[in-house]
Amino acid sequence: MPEAQVASEAQGAPAGARLSAPVVVPPGAWDELQAAAKSTAPMSPPPVRMRESLDPFPARGKAGGPARGPSDTDSGTEGGATIAVYGLVCYTTRVPSAGYVDLHCHLLPSVDDGAQTLEESLEMARALAGAGFSDVAPSPHAWPELPNAAAIEQQRGALQAAFSEAGIELSLHPNAENRLDAEFFERLERGESRPLGSGRYVLVEAPFDSPLPSLLDLIFRIKLKGLTPLIAHPERCHEFQGKGKRAAEAVNAGALLQLELGAPLGRYGPLARKVSERLLEDDLYAVAASDLHGPVGAERWLPEAIGFLETHGLHTALLQENPARLLQGEPLEFEGQPS
Ligand SMILES: [Fe+2]
Repeated sequence: MPEAQVASEAQGAPAGARLSAPVVVPPGAWDELQAAAKSTAPMSPPPVRMRESLDPFPARGKAGGPARGPSDTDSGTEGGATIAVYGLVCYTTRVPSAGYVDLHCHLLPSVDDGAQTLEESLEMARALAGAGFSDVAPSPHAWPELPNAAAIEQQRGALQAAFSEAGIELSLHPNAENRLDAEFFERLERGESRPLGSGRYVLVEAPFDSPLPSLLDLIFRIKLKGLTPLIAHPERCHEFQGKGKRAAEAVNAGALLQLELGAPLGRYGPLARKVSERLLEDDLYAVAASDLHGPVGAERWLPEAIGFLETHGLHTALLQENPARLLQGEPLEFEGQPS
């Protein structure tokens, strides 16, 4: 993928996102939160376990090949063959369909900074289906200047119809990517949070380049509304990139974390890669998602990223079981405690 496109994907929320003031917790609110949490999602990490080292190219060491980037020029073949990565590591392409579920993807045409045309949407959808996805919850940015929820629903229906016509087997589900800003919390108060799937979880994003000291308060406010926040790509967000345990604190407060599929491959730079490795080692991610914004290179890097999760035994939890549960509004199963 050209550097320019990756840079565009890394933009995320624009500067100046408004963050709400610290929350004053009313008497009895913690009891309400605990009751809401019991009825929504558990408050500890999902049962994913690393099987091997997190080096995405475990066979690379001796030859010392360069780190992979979006502009790399791998060779590859389709239809279940293997992809050669510098002639050192082979990842098998996915056999459609592995039943993977993508909960973060900018697939709808002409609604945000994702697909710009129907043709791009179809190309992205073919790449997703070819990588093993059967279900996608397109997550257009829920910014006030962009199409509203009703318009998005229309677009989703139209794209699903286009898939039928094009013979693409991919089911689309409701979703949006919400900024953790004042506008979102105003919508939350009005019951317009734009949750994913059946409505018990909501995809939210923190600022990329600025801190979010009120993070735990914001999680608390979302939980009070009976929703569980799924925090998009924490490895790319300033608040989670320090040496502290901010991600663990967020999970302990009742949030879930979404890994950007391309992060462990270095698609978003060395810092995001390093943070993603740490969060994977700490078993803090609940799901992995593509956050696909365009079709360029997707047919190559999606199978490669999924191959990384497979190598470490994480694909079933992060791409199948957990995201399917979130889509259905079911709690995740955690080690050591009943769901
Ligand atoms: Fe996104």
